[in-house]
Amino acid sequence: KSNINILAIETSCDETAASVVRNGREVLSNIISSQIEIHKIYGGVVPEIASRRHIEKINQVIEEALKEANVTLDDIDAIGVTYGPGLVGALLVGVATAKAISFAANKPLIGVHHIEGHVSANYIENKELEPPFLCLIVSGGHTHLVLVKDYGEYEVIGKTRDDAAGEAYDKVARAIGLGYPGGPKIDKLAKEGNSRAIVFPRAHIEGAPYDFSFSGLKSAVLNYLNSCEMKHEDINRADVAASFQEAVVDVLVSKTIQAAKDYNMKKVAIAGGVAANSALQKAMKEACIEHGFEYYHPSPVFCTDNAAMIGCAAYYEYIKGRLSGLDLNAVPNLRI
Ligand code: KG4
Ligand code: ZN
Repeated sequence: KSNINILAIETSCDETAASVVRNGREVLSNIISSQIEIHKIYGGVVPEIASRRHIEKINQVIEEALKEANVTLDDIDAIGVTYGPGLVGALLVGVATAKAISFAANKPLIGVHHIEGHVSANYIENKELEPPFLCLIVSGGHTHLVLVKDYGEYEVIGKTRDDAAGEAYDKVARAIGLGYPGGPKIDKLAKEGNSRAIVFPRAHIEGAPYDFSFSGLKSAVLNYLNSCEMKHEDINRADVAASFQEAVVDVLVSKTIQAAKDYNMKKVAIAGGVAANSALQKAMKEACIEHGFEYYHPSPVFCTDNAAMIGCAAYYEYIKGRLSGLDLNAVPNLRI
């Protein structure tokens, strides 16, 4: 068969998303129903509310994805769905829906790892990109350096010991009163600030050159804010945002470049919500040019959670014959 169409579903956190992807790289539709407006009232994602909202939205989102792609279920070859990691109640909505469609329409089912989805987002706009490459995955829940050896074959060479990069962005944003989700807001505010104004720590871990730690940086920002308050000094929020961001970006870029050199990789890619960050994009691009690596990144819409990336990853599982059974279950702490 010449064309393989995957219907993909993603509900691991606070976006209800469905997409139709052809041959792993061509996105025919990409529908995302964001819950940010509801969760921001609470300053972060409330798992119970997320699950309920997914249930309310999922059927409509899938119908829209099929309609926009101009296909019906008959044209679909397989159903791909995120089964972990993520919020268990949220994941279950996608998994149960995918299983129901798979059973009723008699289509193969493919459980997809969320992080594998983020990595695969790079295939959408970079048609020539093929493994092997090094990928930095930075999202709200994960900070991983991964060797992508082949489609569906990964080796994690480093990860965060505590907070994820996006988590640090969200916590610092909250501390300077920017609200949820903090990443995009810090990104914007930092453009007006001086990134050299305050020196925040860059954590390097003895004996683990590719591991990350962001909790010390987060504490340093909180301490700085507290000490300003105690001394009744004005806080320049743009300077705090810019200086914090520079510390994060410095560490992410230097460890990625070091790993690419050590593992003799020629291509470097980034993925996940924080990969949408303009300062990270700029610094990673410059570093890759300087060190002679080819640099790949998805557009912002494919960096943050979406179902198209799940459709890409599902395609490569499909052609390898790695299908799931109807006993597929949500695995909240699934490892890569
Ligand atoms: O990949 P994603 O949508 O969800 C997870 O799998 O976690 O990532 C969400 C994270 C949030 O922490 C958000 O603040 C961060 O990505 N983020 C950003 C930017 N856009 C989203 N962080 C920094 N700069 C951005 N422009
Ligand atoms: Zn994600």
